Amino acid sequence: MKERLKVILVGGARPNFMKLAPVYKELKKYSFFKPIIVHTGQHYDQEMSGLFFRDLQLPRPDIYLGVGSGNHGEQTAKIMIGFENVCIDLKPDLVIVVGDVNSTIACALVAAKLMIPVAHIEAGLRSFDRTMPEEINRLLTDQISDYLFTTCRDANENLRREGIPEQKIFFVGNVMIDTLKEHLIIARRLKTCQQLGLRQGHYAVLTLHRPSNVDDEKVLQDIMDGVSEVSKFLPVAFPVHPRTSARFDNIHFLVYEDEFDKGIMFMKPLGYLEFLSLMADARFVLTDSGGIQEETTILGIPCLTLRKNTERPITIIQGTNTLVGTEKQTIIREARRILRGTADSDSLVKNRIPELWDGEAASRIAQTLVKLLV
Ligand code: UD1
Repeated sequence: MKERLKVILVGGARPNFMKLAPVYKELKKYSFFKPIIVHTGQHYDQEMSGLFFRDLQLPRPDIYLGVGSGNHGEQTAKIMIGFENVCIDLKPDLVIVVGDVNSTIACALVAAKLMIPVAHIEAGLRSFDRTMPEEINRLLTDQISDYLFTTCRDANENLRREGIPEQKIFFVGNVMIDTLKEHLIIARRLKTCQQLGLRQGHYAVLTLHRPSNVDDEKVLQDIMDGVSEVSKFLPVAFPVHPRTSARFDNIHFLVYEDEFDKGIMFMKPLGYLEFLSLMADARFVLTDSGGIQEETTILGIPCLTLRKNTERPITIIQGTNTLVGTEKQTIIREARRILRGTADSDSLVKNRIPELWDGEAASRIAQTLVKLLV
């Protein structure tokens, strides 16, 4: 029998793990694939990494590079040094990278230069905003990848426009939704909101971590002023990303905690299942995350995105997402529109499930890889 094909799956930061999990599980079904998980250690806290391996029933990573935090150049370089050694040692037949974090571009670049084929899952998304570090990571990763797996047809268009040959592009759907569908029933049973003393449908959820929102004091102040006002009429559950908690020392805002249980409820980052449960029972979500725009679309929960642009326009055109920016008054106005039932996300023509966001994306990826490699 031919030797098994060694396929390295790279994960580094929190949003990678739920994309990697269904692909790992699919590849395991084929005896001729040997999937190997490499964790770069870009995220390392239990709340940002360990809880996700537990919740998604992933095994311990086969290799842990332990690079930790740092400036972009430093972090990317450390990942490259560690990953190059892994590739030289293991001589994989394929490297799979997901998403748009520093670990994605670092490992794709190492593999491409060693002439190891690279597959990029979630290829072709574009915010057209090169001030976002993730946009640089997306553009470059796609240029050097051999197999580009996309979540939507507009991503295919973006890739064609950038000169990527048609035969490299595979529209397979959204692996993050595979993970959501697999875990939603278990997550709903957790009733995270009740454990926090919140009532189903009577609270909002906030997440914030984009450098453009949290590293700029004025922007962060404006967002938190808007959220403070919202929290006067609806409690806001706020799991705080470590980048963001480090910024709060200089920010002043009112936390309303009165006898009606209203206010902003600060907490540590939650695990995958707890957070999915919290989102699924919320009245609406305020976020600057990319993945949450997609998850709320599937859950049918209105999402107010605290950014000027999104690389996931399909969640606006078909889903429950609205771009609201970061100004206090706009945040308050859009939150009120949701509570009055007059928000865009309530429109009947919207709230469709995007094509191929059906829980089968990883299976399509595995089948494609069989055709290409075996
Ligand atoms: C990274 C990704 C971003 C993704 C986000 C999800 C890049 C360029 N950015 O941003 O696309 O949306 O992850 O969370 O790859 N920290 C901890 N514990 C950890 C990890 C980080 O305390 O486990 C702190 C450190 O102070 C670190 C800061 O958070 O400096 C930022 O971490 P970093 O990985 O550089 O970027 P994120 O903002 O998390």
